[in-house]
Order: sequence, then structure tokens, then C-alpha cells
Amino acid sequence: MQVDVLLGLQWGDEGKGKVVDVLTPRYDVITRFQGGPNAGHTLEFNNIKHVLHTIPSGIFRGDKVNVIGNGVVIDPSIFKKEIESLRNIGFELTNNLLISKKAHLILPTHRLLDAASEAAKGASKIGSTLKGIGPTYRDKIGRDGLRIGDILHNFEAKYRARIDQHIEILEKFYNFDYKQALADYEKEWFAGIEVIRQFQLIDSEHFINNQLMAGKSVIAEGAQGTMLDIDFGSYPFVTSSNTIAAGACTGLGIAPDKIGRVYGIFKAYCTRVGSGPFPTELLDETGEKLRRIGNEFGSTTGRPRRCGWLDLVALRYAIMINGVTDLIMMKADVLDSFETIRICTAYLIDGVRTLDFPNDLEGDVVPQYDELEGWQCDLTGVDSETKFPAALSGYIRFIEAYLQVPVTIVSVGPDRSQTIER
Ligand code: GDP
Ligand code: IMO
Ligand code: MG
Repeated sequence: MQVDVLLGLQWGDEGKGKVVDVLTPRYDVITRFQGGPNAGHTLEFNNIKHVLHTIPSGIFRGDKVNVIGNGVVIDPSIFKKEIESLRNIGFELTNNLLISKKAHLILPTHRLLDAASEAAKGASKIGSTLKGIGPTYRDKIGRDGLRIGDILHNFEAKYRARIDQHIEILEKFYNFDYKQALADYEKEWFAGIEVIRQFQLIDSEHFINNQLMAGKSVIAEGAQGTMLDIDFGSYPFVTSSNTIAAGACTGLGIAPDKIGRVYGIFKAYCTRVGSGPFPTELLDETGEKLRRIGNEFGSTTGRPRRCGWLDLVALRYAIMINGVTDLIMMKADVLDSFETIRICTAYLIDGVRTLDFPNDLEGDVVPQYDELEGWQCDLTGVDSETKFPAALSGYIRFIEAYLQVPVTIVSVGPDRSQTIER
């Protein structure tokens, strides 16, 4: 058996949580492989709307096994809140959520270092979610991190040593006022460590490979999106992990030949939250309209998302990096009322037309658009492809012809049921 991967092809918030929940009945094991509580994955079903940050989106489907893989970074205080809010609506996960001993811990001071770093950057800040993601991965790569497995042995001393070093940086380098915030975070953080102890802490690489050998099916749920990847995104305005298909190998401990289908998910338009280049961004009322109808406000931070037209240059690049086998188009219904829809098919960079997503987006990048007819009808009740308006079928055909990958799922609303397979 192989691991199918579902990941974002844009700048995050494509609707990964919704689709993982929809696909979960087909899988035995649902895993997260990178990122942390910078993610906000929204699921809606039976009038429940829930946002997950660290926990895989398979947990609402009964007897499935959910695994937080080694590539994920975990903030115990946020994890505790997630567990509590799930318990409040009747979902007890201690038997079906497993956590890798190799997953790194976001320490209270990592969050403060994130805040200090962003404040020091001023106008050139990344627009981080301030969850401590960058500092935690920096310590991981610098071989200074603490991992979930560390809570099992002599933890307090290891914790103290790391915190003391961080405090020195906060004081001496950033001159950052941390004392009250640290005292507040620490209490909840250690309460969170106790919640983590209620779960099975495992060698997840062995577990996942054993599951595959036993014929079980596994799906890996990406966080963020390809354009936020630490290597291939718009550096430095990126997150600090590999959000791409290859990240599933390092973030779960599976060999490259174990990757099966790669589901690439994108919105029928584009959004980005935080700083950084965004070629098709609309700073006018059309962008405002997309934000309003699409309810484009961050699931984790509540920040308004920047909106723009679909960018096929960026999508083609993301498909290449990930080896996408199936495309999933989300939020088609958000375009219901548009008379015409624009779609970016090339960039003009300093006067030269290109189809290849460039490394440098700082210069004069002018998106080139094709204009398609809108469908101007309500898609939210459409339940099969046979009921697609012709203009929607045309939009999908145009995308498939350009990208040379089939669109196998179209989403027409936030609810689990508003999902059409083709
Ligand atoms: P994720 O981070 O990729 O899981 O995506 P988010 O949950 O951050 O953002 C997606 C948002 O769009 C959520 O509020 C979803 O409820 C909502 N959503 C998902 N699919 C659709 C859709 O097809 N139509 C509409 N209107 N909303 C959707
Ligand atoms: P999901 O999984 C959208 C963005 C932040 C910022 C940059 C770096 O819900 O799609 P970080 O906190 O990682 O240091 O922030 O990345 N970002 C996201 N944008 N969706 C996400 O996750 C994101 N996670 C991080 O806004 O620009
Ligand atoms: Mg999100």
C-alpha cells in the first residue's frame, strides 16, 4: 500500500480540512506531516463547524486512526484547547489519536521569539501567525529542539535549559518584555503537557510503515500550501517547513516510492494571508467582493485574507513540485455572481512573457489574463456534475487543458455534503 497525500497548491486555506474529512471514509489512517497550529482547517457537517490546528481532520469519522507525524510542531497549550473543545462536543480521542515521539515542541518562549522577531522586522515582517513556528523549526534544524519524546525523561531540566537560553536572546538581543506573557503561557503549557501524556506517544515511522505492510490505507494531510513552502515558496515570506509532497516523506518517515496519489487542492480564485508577493492580487472592489462572499478571514488569526484571480502560472509550478495526480477545486460557489471571471495564464516580467513561475517576484510582474464567462447561478445546491452550468464546465475544462491534470472533485459550499466527484 501507498500513502496518498492531500496538500494545498496555493498560499494555504484552500479547504484541506474539508476535503480530508470527505475522503477519510476511504482510509484507515489519517496523518499530519508538517506545520503546526499556524494551520486552521475548517470542517462543517451536521451543523457543526469546527477548526482544527494540530489534529488531523480524520477525527470526526469514528474508528479511524489519526497520527500526528514527526514533522509536525506541537504547542501543548493549543493542543489542550483543541482536545477540550472536541471533548465538549462529544469527541473523545485518546484511543484514536497517536503522536510521534519525534514531533517537536513549541515552547512558550518560541512564541515570544516569534513576536520579538516580527516586531524587530517592522514593515518587512513575514506576517507570521505568531504561533512560534519559525523559532521552533529553527531550533529543530539547529539541533536545539525539544521533542515529544523528551517529556518522558528528565523533562524539567531539559526545558529549563532551553528556556534560559531563549530568555537571554529575548533580553539581550531583542530587549523584549517577556516576563508576564511567559508566566501566563507557561501555566497552560504545562497543563497541556499533562494532556499530551494521556495519549499514546509512538514511533510513528514504524507505525505507519507497519500499517502499509498490513494493507492499510493512509492519507497524509498537508498544512499551509506550496507557495508557502520553505524552499519553493516566495522566500522569505513563507512558513518554516516543507509543505510539499516530499515533506510527507520526511514528516512521516516513508520512502518516496510509498507516495501514491497526490491530491492538489486549490480555490477557484486565490487568497493569501500575511505578507509577500501575490501577482494576481486584486486591491479593488472585485477583491473586496471575493473576500466578502468567500468569507476570507483567517481561520487561525481572523485576519482578512488578500484575494485575487486564479493564477495558473503558480498552479502549474505547484503541480510540478508536488507531482499532483488529481486536482480538487474549492469554493466554486464564491464565483456564482460574477459576470466574467479572469484567469491568469502568463506573467509579463519586465516586458518578457513567461509561463514559468520565477524566483524573483520583486520586479515588474504583470499577470496576463484570459476572460471567461461566469455562470451566474447558485451552485450551492448542485449535487452532481450533470447539473453543472455550461460556463462552470467551461471554466474547469480551461483549467484542465492548461494544467494537464484532471479536476476530480469540485466543492460548492463549506459543508461536507457540498462536494461533487467527477
Ligand atoms: P484549510 O486551511 O485548507 O483547511 O482551509 P480553511 O479552513 O482555513 O479555509 C477554507 C474556508 O472555506 C473554511 O471557512 C471552509 O469552511 C470554507 N470552505 C471550504 N470549501 C468551501 C466551498 O466549496 N465553498 C465555500 N463557500 N466555502 C468553503
Ligand atoms: P493552513 O494549513 C494560510 C502564513 C502566515 C504567514 C506565513 C508564515 O490553514 O492552510 P508562520 O506562522 O508559519 O510563521 O507564518 O505563512 N500561514 C498560513 N497562511 N494558511 C495557513 O495554514 C498558514 N500557515 C501559515 O500568514 O504569511
Ligand atoms: Mg486554514
